Amino acid sequence: MCGIVGYVGKPPVVQTLLDCLGRLEYRGYDSAGIAVVNDKGIEIRKRVGKIKELVASIKQKPLDGERLGISHSRWATHGEPTEVNAHPHLDCRGELALVHNGIVENYAELKARLLGQGHRFRSQTDTEVIAHLVEEHAKRLPLAEAFRSALKELRGSYALCLIAKRDPTHLYGARAGSPLIVGLGKGEAFLASDVPAVLARTRRVIYLNEQEVVELSTSGVKLTTLNGAPITRKPSTVSWDLSAAQKEGYDHFMLKEIVEQPSAVEQTLCTRLDAAKGQIAFDRRTRTFLSRLTSQEKFVIIACGTAYHAGLVGEYMLEELAHVPVDVDLASEFRYRAPMLDRDTTVIAITQSGETADTLAGVRLAKEQGAKVLAICNVMGSSIPREADAVIYTHAGPEIAVASTKAYTSQLTVLYLLTLSLAKRRGLVTSARLRELLTTLGRLPKLIERALEVEPAIKRIARRYARARDFYYLGRRYNFPSALEGALKLKEICPRIHAEGYAAGEMKHGPISLIRKGWPVVFLATDSAVYEKVVSNIEEVRARKGECLIIASEGDRAIRRHADALITVPKTEELFSPILAAIPLQLLAYHIARLNGCDIDQPPNLAKSVTVE
Ligand code: M6R
Repeated sequence: MCGIVGYVGKPPVVQTLLDCLGRLEYRGYDSAGIAVVNDKGIEIRKRVGKIKELVASIKQKPLDGERLGISHSRWATHGEPTEVNAHPHLDCRGELALVHNGIVENYAELKARLLGQGHRFRSQTDTEVIAHLVEEHAKRLPLAEAFRSALKELRGSYALCLIAKRDPTHLYGARAGSPLIVGLGKGEAFLASDVPAVLARTRRVIYLNEQEVVELSTSGVKLTTLNGAPITRKPSTVSWDLSAAQKEGYDHFMLKEIVEQPSAVEQTLCTRLDAAKGQIAFDRRTRTFLSRLTSQEKFVIIACGTAYHAGLVGEYMLEELAHVPVDVDLASEFRYRAPMLDRDTTVIAITQSGETADTLAGVRLAKEQGAKVLAICNVMGSSIPREADAVIYTHAGPEIAVASTKAYTSQLTVLYLLTLSLAKRRGLVTSARLRELLTTLGRLPKLIERALEVEPAIKRIARRYARARDFYYLGRRYNFPSALEGALKLKEICPRIHAEGYAAGEMKHGPISLIRKGWPVVFLATDSAVYEKVVSNIEEVRARKGECLIIASEGDRAIRRHADALITVPKTEELFSPILAAIPLQLLAYHIARLNGCDIDQPPNLAKSVTVE
């Protein structure tokens, strides 16, 4: 979703704002803009399209800022992606400029009032009302107070950054429902939607909480509530550095992140797993949380997209090994059902970003109804872990590509840890079997490394199928979610292709009617309790002349005669097979998208984190 950067410091302000904004490109956007305060007042520039269009326009007609400015990449919600609708937005006199991420739900009513008060609007956006609202309040109040008073009138979500001609040394920001962080450098300070924006300059950050307002200058930070009550918070130090958020020689972040999976999973495991002793150690808060689970506990997993698929795999393992009843819900549906939650319910919210609007709303609903909430999250300090009762961080490092890869395999790893730790607590697994499972879990980074060796074979297969326009992905049990995830990866980054994932057993109930000569069907046929059933499904597709691309376990010779294309991954317990199957699925999507000339890291119409409903 929209990227925000605000800066107060030293020249060259425009260059700093553009560099920082460029590091938020991964969020997905369709236009970009910048505003600076200089001796002419507020100067603004906007362009539709990529940030490079904005950069080119500034090269052609330079823009100078002295010490203060804001920039924005917009993902359109209200009004088409045009220059007029791009941010920053100004008040009537062009003396205030602001950028916004979120949705102002009561904008129509506010706009009507402001029009009645004589304000003139230029855009169709909800954001512009905020500029006029601050202008209106600033007629009677100092700027900081006017900003807070305007915020109190907003319904919906916002991360905001404001500058004003009358106050050329201060940058104002606020958040409610959309992420915003403060970066503290030497003689300079930043506001940004996400940490990568500021990493080249500082690793000292303050995560803003809901309904907090911040005033930044080169000499300090003033953090307050919406009512102006002061808040004290120490900055935290980000544990990863800029290299983690750069491509480092890879053509795309997605490929870099696929290749990083052995180390990402290693990071997820490292402080928690002691396979030799048969032990799993979570932090104190999580241990206390887990010790409060009752014998009647039921789990409801809520998540969106790829994280939802991780949750579906979690359902199989938690039910089979830890004997906990599990429901898995799309967060966007969960929030509008009347779920039966009580004190024996734990809602597990799985999310890479920790900011997904639907998952966050689901967390709030769960808490209102008295359920406990455990978050599985990648981004430290983000909203969902802060609202949950406990959090298990995935520690996968920053995931920049819109398509989730290493976050998914790290989420699966956390679910393995959780499942096995509960199975142990409940006495459902013998020590010998537990040690065996934990040993395999500890070997996953190595097994993923071996799974990555399929890339040359995948490239060949991708060449063969790159021109196909429809794909099915089929799997059963633990690899039914893998089928959904494989299809999502492909359609997400290669929008020319239609891809659907199904439970293989569902084929006969409808989807098989579409299979015709040459239709590629990716089968998950690794070693499992349902292997033979999957082979029967493969035969059904072959009987209709579909092309079977089979992902099987190493050493499975018998499968060859069923395959038009065969990819093998290391043989492992069925429980762990989805994490290895994910690798060829991700690589296949990547190489097909590449051959189709797609914008892999920033597919059209998609945003990295969906912070609006
Ligand atoms: O940040 P989250 O994990 O909550 O995001 C959920 C989905 O938006 C996300 O997984 C999305 O489906 C990915 N782009 C898939 O690759």
